[in-house]
Amino acid sequence: MKQTAYVNGRFVPMESAMVHIEDRGFQFADGIYEVVACFNGRFLDMQPHLERLERSCSAIGITLPCTLDRLAELVQETWSKNPFSDAMIYIQVTRGVAPRSHLAPDNLVPTLIITSADLPKPSEAKLNSGARAITLTDFRWKHCEIKSIALLASVMGKQEANRRHADEAFWLDSEGHVLEGCSTNIFATINGVLVTHPLDHQVLGGITRNMLIRIAHEAGTKVEERAWRLDEVGLTETMMTSTTNAVLPVCIMDDKPVGSGLPGPMATRLRSLMLQAMDALRSA
Ligand code: PDD
Repeated sequence: MKQTAYVNGRFVPMESAMVHIEDRGFQFADGIYEVVACFNGRFLDMQPHLERLERSCSAIGITLPCTLDRLAELVQETWSKNPFSDAMIYIQVTRGVAPRSHLAPDNLVPTLIITSADLPKPSEAKLNSGARAITLTDFRWKHCEIKSIALLASVMGKQEANRRHADEAFWLDSEGHVLEGCSTNIFATINGVLVTHPLDHQVLGGITRNMLIRIAHEAGTKVEERAWRLDEVGLTETMMTSTTNAVLPVCIMDDKPVGSGLPGPMATRLRSLMLQAMDALRSA
């Protein structure tokens, strides 16, 4: 499919979709983004994504160039021009264009771009084996709750994971607590309880994280949001969540098996419940 992008009020062919070289997103990573999944034209948790985008903008002092309702319409229009059956919508807002200076002039017009692409998904082989991951001591900034486009630490983490034949790198705080991945949140099953780090400045409030917590509650599973470590007694499974992975078991961590080293019952059950919710959206 020939892709069409939304750029500052216009739909343009992907190959000519451009922003200015003095865009502050390009020069300072001065912007924020969102990734939304779309199944048969129906968006998964659109409102929470748009609200998080608004929170991210407000955290860095960018005024959104339109209302959230208008943004939802633009997202819909972007998908209609690129109607992938399972789509990944990317939205990016930067502070705008200005001569390079750390302090931005007032009243810049923010840059807004939206694209729709095929939603990447874990392969069957990956689902059967589970993902492999490594851990790294956290070297990111202290505002991970903002969905910033400044992703250099995440890029470096993914590169290191890839170099070590792993799919994801998970950040550990100085006491060995597991925070989140480069582009995912992480949960553990500990004595049958689903555990994940509480929301604070070290973790992005993942929309899929929320969905998993909701689905687990509905399935009668106890959920605890608390600091946890990989060496806790009773830890049998780990799993990661994101818009592109839904929930995916993580079975090897730093070259050692997690629990049995195979996808466990908690991750398997919750994944199937999550996929059911996505199927329901598809056929709604
Ligand atoms: N990444 N934590 C980080 C650091 C992330 O970058 C992401 C998402 C998540 C999961 O958030 P959600 O469930 O809302 O997708 C957690 C997106 C998918 C990306 O950068 O492509």
